[in-house]
Parts: sequence; structure tokens; C-alpha cells
Amino acid sequence: MRKQIAAANWKMNLTYQQGEELLDTILKGNIGLADHQYAVFAVPFPYLIMAQTKLSGKKNYAAAAQNCSDQPAGAYTGEVSAEMLKSINIGYCVLGHSERREYFSEHNQSLATKTQRCLELGITPIFCCGEPLSIREVDAQESYVEAQLKESLFHFSAEEISRIVIAYEPIWAIGTGKTATAEQAQEMHACIRRQLASKYGSQVADAIPILYGGSVKAGNAKELFSRPDVDGGLVGGASLVAADFLKIIESLK
Ligand code: PGA
Repeated sequence: MRKQIAAANWKMNLTYQQGEELLDTILKGNIGLADHQYAVFAVPFPYLIMAQTKLSGKKNYAAAAQNCSDQPAGAYTGEVSAEMLKSINIGYCVLGHSERREYFSEHNQSLATKTQRCLELGITPIFCCGEPLSIREVDAQESYVEAQLKESLFHFSAEEISRIVIAYEPIWAIGTGKTATAEQAQEMHACIRRQLASKYGSQVADAIPILYGGSVKAGNAKELFSRPDVDGGLVGGASLVAADFLKIIESLK
């Protein structure tokens, strides 16, 4: 069975103490996960060890980084390498979030390198893709996302691509309260899976989790996740409220 993942993306929110409290409350909710279900928390770098320590005792709960460097090591002030993440047992790293693409000039080529660094170290990349509103308005989202995947991922082997999680996040739905409908999400997820299948074959494509992101809420998660190609969500705002994120975890299939 394909992995189902509820992934929290805290972005640059919460103090350390607030983050601890949020995780404690979520863990007290005591939601048990089936073998194929995961709850992942992408927290700011200074909170990773705390989060990992709290979550590691619980089956299929894990901490994630929100980014890593495309360089292996060296004189890159302010950067954090994949190897550093590995050294504190971080198993997931979000890569290519649209905010990083937009505000920090990340592009498909450097994301290919970041993905490579993670894969080499056994860290699962949660690779984000998705179109801006101007592209959706001219109905060009399929080719736009295909270019993102081709330029960042399609040189990897089938074995490597099988270790990647994809997050489809239409930019017009992020933090706007404007969720894609479950039909729009399903349509794009099915399209991404077709693109993966045409490159790697359907067996490989069918096993890759594709998460939806963009205004996932407690009230719409179940409907979104019920679609056959929607394998969970990458959740910003609603992941900062314990009761809401607990509901979202519970909405996994
Ligand atoms: P949002 O953010 O849930 O607040 O829309 C999602 C994301 O950016 O990952």
C-alpha cells in the first residue's frame, strides 16, 4: 500500500516553547498510525533535535527539515547541509517549497542537487512543485509542473525516484484560504502520476506518494485525501493548531 503522509510545515512560525507545547498536545492526542500512515513535522532548524526526540518514540511520527544546502560542506555561512541533518537522524527534508523558490531564488537545477544530496544520505525529500495563478489562468499547469519534475527529478534512477515524496502545491492556494477543489487536486495528482509513469513505468509511479498542499484544513482534509491519487497533505497554517492538525492526521486513509 502506498504511503499516506500528513506533513506539517511550520515555516518560520512559533517560538521554541510554543513548538514544544504544540508537539506535546499533538502527541497527547495519541493517534495511532497504520503501517502505511505517517505524521511528519517540518520544523525550523533550531527545533529539529527537540522535535525528533519527542516524536521518535511514536510509531511513524517523524521530524523533517524545511530545506538543506545544495553544497556538501564548507564556507557557506548560514547554510545547513544534508549531512548535518543526517547526523541528528532527520529522515525527511522539504525541498523546493514555492516560498523558497520565490523569495530565495531556488530553481529547478539547484533543487536537483539538493535532492541528490538527500538521496545519497537516505533522507526522504518532500519535493514541492506547483503552478502560480498566471499559469492556472491559461490552463498550462500540467506542462509547468512537468517541467519542474523533468528538470529536477527525471534524471534519477527508478530506485532513487521511489524514495521521493512529491507535494503538489498550487501557489494560488497557499496561505490564501483558497483550496483547490478535491477534483482539481485529483486531476493534477493523476497527471503527475501519469508523467512519472511515462518516465519510470506504472509500477514505480503507483508507489510514489503525492501530497496536496494549499489551505488544507481540518474541515476539508478528509475530502481531499479521499481522492485516489491524493496521498495526504503538506499543511501550513492549520498545522499550527493542535486540534486542527490532529483532525488532519485522522483524515489519512
Ligand atoms: P497553507 O500552506 O496550508 O498555509 O496554505 C501550505 C504550504 O505552504 O505548505
